[in-house]
Amino acid sequence: FSATTPYTPLPPVLLVGPPGAGKTALLTLFERGPLYNPDQSPSASEKPSVPTPVAKTHTSQLPSTVELAVSDGPTPSSYRTDLDAAGATAKKFLLIDTPGHPKLRAHALAHLSPSSQKPITTTTSSSSSSADGTKTKLKAIIFLVDAAALADTDSPALAATAEYLYDVLITLQKRFHKRSGSRAPASVPVLVAANKLDLFTALPAALVRSNLEAELTRIRKTRSKGLLDSGVGVDDVAGAREEEEEGEGWLGGYGEGRFSFKEMMEFDVEVEVIGGNVVGEGPGAEKWWKWIGERV
Ligand code: GTP
Ligand code: MG
Repeated sequence: FSATTPYTPLPPVLLVGPPGAGKTALLTLFERGPLYNPDQSPSASEKPSVPTPVAKTHTSQLPSTVELAVSDGPTPSSYRTDLDAAGATAKKFLLIDTPGHPKLRAHALAHLSPSSQKPITTTTSSSSSSADGTKTKLKAIIFLVDAAALADTDSPALAATAEYLYDVLITLQKRFHKRSGSRAPASVPVLVAANKLDLFTALPAALVRSNLEAELTRIRKTRSKGLLDSGVGVDDVAGAREEEEEGEGWLGGYGEGRFSFKEMMEFDVEVEVIGGNVVGEGPGAEKWWKWIGERV
């Protein structure tokens, strides 16, 4: 018998964002392949077209994971490409879908926590070799937002979306501060994916970016005030001040001005905003796929 089977854990990519943003829909699109187009005969290297590339989704209550592959070259392959048929060497990774509901976010944020030295353990829904759990470092985060919901300034969607994004970014920032010596956790890039650009009411990526930055400016002001003003004990206030002095309680750079995603570079966190859509006519999901391919 063979002594041990060599086992390489797959790099995980985390899919987060508010409820209804389209996380589960995106996962099913990447998993199933291209949109069905009756006028087009599929080329040999494409995954067979399926009539329903995007699964009917419902509110997710549990995280789920699929195993995906992107070609291992200078230019990542399309998610439409069937890598076996194309004869390409593939980089495999895990895409982890998480529930967006505020009460179910703990799992997603636990992946990012600075105190959690525990590597990610996931089980795949497919009966793959990694179904027994995978332990490896997080490669990237996709924060999916509904660009149409953000267009309506009267809806609470912008505030709710930015609150979640704030939690993600401040957690990554704390992770950066906690790193000591050579055991530093690797930095994790964040893609803010502005989804549903097929809808004419959707905001373009540049506006999604500036609206989120404006809302994050407001939130960090409120949160830092809350740290000092709340009626907590003297010790707690001292603790908060100390944290404040280290700049840990304040998202981004020290300036009082407008928050910009660029400030996160100070903590080795790259944030990029790219628009797209999972269903309907529009720029599609190819740019997001490419972004992932360059980081796994
Ligand atoms: P939770 O599981 O509750 O966190 O939500 P989710 O982010 O997984 O959302 P889900 O994938 O269930 O999608 C919510 C709804 O948005 C579904 O009805 C999708 O069909 C729809 N949707 C997803 N992507 C798009 C898109 O690009 N355009 C449009 N028009 N609708 C989309
Ligand atoms: Mg879902």
